[in-house]
Amino acid sequence: MAFPLTRLRRLRRTEPLRSLVRETRLTPESLVYPMFVCPGKATRKAVRSMPGVFNLSVDEAVKEAREAHSAGVSSVILFGLPENKDEVASGAWAEDGIVQRATRALKRELPDLIVMGDVCLCEYMSHGHCGVVRATPQSLGAAVAAPRTTTTDFEIVNDATLELLARTSVSLARAGVDVIAPSDMMDGRVAAIRKALDEAGFINTPILSYAAKFASGFYGPFREAADSSPQFGDRRSYQMDPANIREAMREIELDLEEGADMIMIKPAMPYLDVIAAARERFDVPLAAYQVSGEYAMIEAAAHNNWIDRDRVMMESLLSIRRAGASIILTYFAKDAARLLA
Ligand code: PBG
Repeated sequence: MAFPLTRLRRLRRTEPLRSLVRETRLTPESLVYPMFVCPGKATRKAVRSMPGVFNLSVDEAVKEAREAHSAGVSSVILFGLPENKDEVASGAWAEDGIVQRATRALKRELPDLIVMGDVCLCEYMSHGHCGVVRATPQSLGAAVAAPRTTTTDFEIVNDATLELLARTSVSLARAGVDVIAPSDMMDGRVAAIRKALDEAGFINTPILSYAAKFASGFYGPFREAADSSPQFGDRRSYQMDPANIREAMREIELDLEEGADMIMIKPAMPYLDVIAAARERFDVPLAAYQVSGEYAMIEAAAHNNWIDRDRVMMESLLSIRRAGASIILTYFAKDAARLLA
């Protein structure tokens, strides 16, 4: 039946009608709030490229999480800025590491808040890579004066990294982390983490794997926030090529075979097709990460009055939801939850 019998505008006439026929809804409990915890007390250090985002000392992180939680946000995901960095990422797995301390405080003050732990080594490594770095045989034979900066001079060693990721995961679970979220993109890490968690008795701790994480320019502001820029080279030998959606499906499939309970696509907005394809294909909870660059672009344009910040914030989150993600990690979590209330 075509026009004039059919008039789609009939159901758009008023807000109650639009709301009645709305296909997709956002809920605060599906939002995850990323937070950056740092040493110190009463510290709230602004992240220049992410207005509204801070490096928070543990006491401030508790305050911030409490506000988000009272707005209805169910979960936070923690990133740590350690006192010291080294070549084995000690800060990631130390019993009194910064994320471990923050977790204990958060679980004590807000027992119902879900605390997720991002498992990666880049924030804790002096070289800023997500795994163990080794000079390649070629570079060892080369002139000593030559700096190790080209991609053939060094490699990010996969298998030696797995042990450190597993150790970090167990340490976080011991501190009380509810969900382990590996974001390093090493092959086989989900299996290694699952095995280590089970052996340590954490059979009920779920894994949310950053299954399809692309080597993206949209992570720029995060690296300022987490002080985690690689000191040489880039992450293209472990994170995915932005051109590949079929490979993304393989990454997800493998992570599920290795025991992932939930999967994540990252970034979100530039990869809505990947989210939609994963939703079609896999029957597990699907998360998407609206990353720092996505947040920064919206904030910057809004700051210039080029867009309406709240409206674009909600539209961007709704689009990620509509593509098929049921869980959204976003720096907008607190503000979006308040608007939804
Ligand atoms: C750690 C990690 C990164 C992000 C989440 N976990 C940075 C990276 O891979 O370089 C990015 C999140 C964001 O940009 O908001 N590996």
